[in-house]
Amino acid sequence: MRVWYRCSRCGYTVEASSWLWRCPRCGNPLDLVIDGLKLTLSERRGLWRFSSVIPAKPLISLGEGFTPLVNADFLGRNVYLKLEYLNPTGSFKDRGSAVAVSRALELGVKAVVEDSSGNAGISVAAYAAAAGVKARIYVPKDAPEGKKNLIRSLGAELIEVQSRDEASRMAIESVGPGEAYIGHAWNPWFLQGTKTLAYELLDQLGHVPDAVVLPVSAGTLLLGLWIGFNELLNLGLINRVPRLYAVQAQGFASLYERMHGNYIREPTKLADALRVYNPPRIEQMVNAIRESNGDALVITDDELLQSWKSLLRRGFIIEPSSAIALSGYMKLLSNNHIDKDEETVIVLTGSGLKYIDIMSKI
Ligand SMILES: Cc1ncc(COP(=O)(O)O)c(C=O)c1O
Ligand SMILES: [Zn+2]
Repeated sequence: MRVWYRCSRCGYTVEASSWLWRCPRCGNPLDLVIDGLKLTLSERRGLWRFSSVIPAKPLISLGEGFTPLVNADFLGRNVYLKLEYLNPTGSFKDRGSAVAVSRALELGVKAVVEDSSGNAGISVAAYAAAAGVKARIYVPKDAPEGKKNLIRSLGAELIEVQSRDEASRMAIESVGPGEAYIGHAWNPWFLQGTKTLAYELLDQLGHVPDAVVLPVSAGTLLLGLWIGFNELLNLGLINRVPRLYAVQAQGFASLYERMHGNYIREPTKLADALRVYNPPRIEQMVNAIRESNGDALVITDDELLQSWKSLLRRGFIIEPSSAIALSGYMKLLSNNHIDKDEETVIVLTGSGLKYIDIMSKI
């Protein structure tokens, strides 16, 4: 398999034999182009079952992927919940981290740097620990205490800053020799991990669903699904891409605003994991939604709270940023964007175990 970086804006192309996270010519995000993609399922369970289509050596695994896909009878016969919160560090980010940190290790990196609202930081910290490399994680200081404590406990250096945007800026400025900026919102290797969700859904269902509904902020899961389903299409293993529905939080709905106009609301107080306002891959996100015939929507904190409670009371220990996907699904049903008989997967992305303190206050 030969792998190239290609700039999504200016077309700059170079073999992907070193660590790049943005185009050296124009500064835009890079994609990975893989020559000779062929799917052979390995005997392994989990993400590395798809290693034939992942352009990185399987150097690190904490058991990510192969998350349960359960029937949500309370919503309808054809509705499934994909329990991504059961990944090793409690979020889908582990798919991205397993691949990005494996690749960084393969290239001889000694430390990784990440900025995060919490979950990606926890995930990168854990995979760095497993790889035996250092991790430095920049987070907004109002991130949940449970998440910040986990990052520290995993042995990473935690740096608290004023805002989510400042976390990105400072992380990028801090990167020194021998260090790799993971920056999941930019990183093309990260998307090679999140794309395995598309392969896994096909593996579990035997076909692709009509629609996938998921929470979206920087777009790493949305774009992973888009890449994965398109690869499956090109491989002739499916004949259509499911409609992708991106559910966003109030105050941070830049994708929605790009597609439907302004939505002025106070910033969410509940969906702390969905607070990226200027995702670097916004153009690609708009394209994924439009080309898949899906849509972007915004959910208020009041709506989100209802879904969070309803999922908790059915035994799904998820965080508020995940519950937003159920609110999105309910809205799509009532707007007739999704029919209740259509096969739909709702992705539950992050664990509520990091929120025990917060739950008791609500
Ligand atoms: C639990 C959870 N769900 C969804 C998302 C959104 O993912 P992305 O920012 O890649 O769109 C995040 C991001 O941090 C998250 O932590
Ligand atoms: Zn470029």
